[in-house]
Parts: sequence; structure tokens; C-alpha cells
Amino acid sequence: MTTRDPGELPEHVRRNRAQWDEWAAQYVASAEKNWALSEPDWGIWNIPESEVGMLPADLAGKDAIELGCGTAYVCAWMARRGARVVGVDNSEAQLETARRMQREHGLDFPLLHGNAEAVPYPDASFDFVVSEYGACLWADPAQWVREAARLLRPGGRLAFLTNAFLLMLCMQDDDAAAAADRLLRPAFGMYRLESTNDRSVQFNLPHGDWIRLLRGSGFEIEDLVELRPGPDATTRYPFVTLDWARQWPSEEVWKARKRA
Ligand SMILES: C[S@@+](CC[C@H](N)C(=O)[O-])C[C@H]1O[C@@H](n2cnc3c(N)ncnc32)[C@H](O)[C@@H]1O
Repeated sequence: MTTRDPGELPEHVRRNRAQWDEWAAQYVASAEKNWALSEPDWGIWNIPESEVGMLPADLAGKDAIELGCGTAYVCAWMARRGARVVGVDNSEAQLETARRMQREHGLDFPLLHGNAEAVPYPDASFDFVVSEYGACLWADPAQWVREAARLLRPGGRLAFLTNAFLLMLCMQDDDAAAAADRLLRPAFGMYRLESTNDRSVQFNLPHGDWIRLLRGSGFEIEDLVELRPGPDATTRYPFVTLDWARQWPSEEVWKARKRA
């Protein structure tokens, strides 16, 4: 077993912990809505699972872990499909909501407070790793992708949904303003972005860098789905408009399989 010592938290993890503990109250309503859904939908536009295909069809009896589970509604969806699930999150306040939801919905699975870059489970413990705007956005890709590969059994799958690279190029520094229809920041060298409004640090990669990182960590890439919301979709987030997201991808889903 080569479980990594969580050690002292890296600076970006400490900053994001403080920020997400503060933001958690704003995620209670979406937790209540998403825990109650009978069919999963994804991302800021609530695109149905039938269009996204984040979850493997055969989850029953499988071991699944969500990295950056927040209020853990994705865990709940997987548990209802028969998976043995674990959720890991860096924010105790988010996990408090998740635990209340577990009690209200009569579901029980482990929820770990910790950094998804160093998860206290042995190698090859899981068949599926998932992240929806969780570790895949807020943790260091060089760390969490390597950790996902370690946690997966050979042939196991990884799926994550995050901001599309094109959106990041057009997004304003002030994310209360909507993305522009022109490029506002350089593509080359994109990796770590510190918010100008708050303490948070997020990570976004050019596609070539994701491909090299995933392949170099032992994954074969199976798909990259650029999500397009329907003409009547709505979002509560101000950083992109429907008009923009109907023309260019605002969210992307990566699907990969650990080499056998
Ligand atoms: C947007 S929520 C994701 C949950 C849910 N899918 C959603 O979209 O609301 C982002 C979550 O990532 C968590 N997070 C950020 N950095 C993390 C890290 N290094 N390890 C584990 N979780 C992390 C935050 O605490 C937060 O709960």
C-alpha cells in the first residue's frame, strides 16, 4: 500500500478550504435539488446524463470515489445505481450539508474531509473516479490526476467535468461579469489562476497539456465531450451567457481509462 501522507496542506488547498467553507451556504439549495433528482444532470446548465454519459452504465457492485464531492449529490446518484461510494472533500462545511442530505435521504456512505491530491485509500481501491467541478478544477492537476491513477484498478475509469478551455480564454478576471466574445488571456502557460475577487485558486489546462498529463499518468483517453446547453437552458452563474454557450463550449467532459 502506498497511500500518500496528506502531510501539511499545500497553499492552494488551504486557500480553497477557507474559501469553500465560506461559499458552502450558497450550495445548500442546489444540494437539496440535486439530491432529490431521479435522473442525474450535469454542470452549470443541468445537461441530462443521457447527453453527457458521465457515469458508466454498469456501476452496480463497483467501487466509486468522487474527488471534491462538495454536497455529495453525485455520490448519491452513484449509490442509487448500486455502487459502493466514497466522497472526499476539502471543505468541512460542504460535508456538513452532505451529511444532512444523507440523513434526509436515508443513504449512508463514507465522506472524508481531506485533500483529493492525497487520499487515504490503498492503491487500486476503485473502479471509477469522478469529479464535477471538484478536484478537477480546484486541485493541482499534476497531483490529483496521479492520485486518481493510483486509486484506480487497471481498466478503471475516470470522468471529469470542468470549465472548457475556450471559456477560460474568454472569461473576465471578475467572474461576476460574463465571458467576452474575444480572447482575453493567453493560452500558452495556462495552469494556475488566482481569483482577483477572493482567496480561491483554480487550475485549467490547454487540451494538449491534459492529453500529455493523462497519458503520462497511465490513462488512455476515451472521449472529450464539449457540452452545448439546449436553447432554453438557464444557469445561476453570471460568468457566461446562454448566447455564448450556444456558440462555443463553456464546459468539457474528459473520459479516460486506466491502462490495464
Ligand atoms: C463546485 S463544488 C463540486 C461539487 C459539486 N459537483 C458541485 O458542482 O457543486 C467544488 C468542491 O471542490 C472541493 N475542493 C476544492 N479543492 C479540493 C481538494 N484539493 N480536494 C478535495 N476537494 C476539493 C471544494 O471544497 C468544493 O466542495
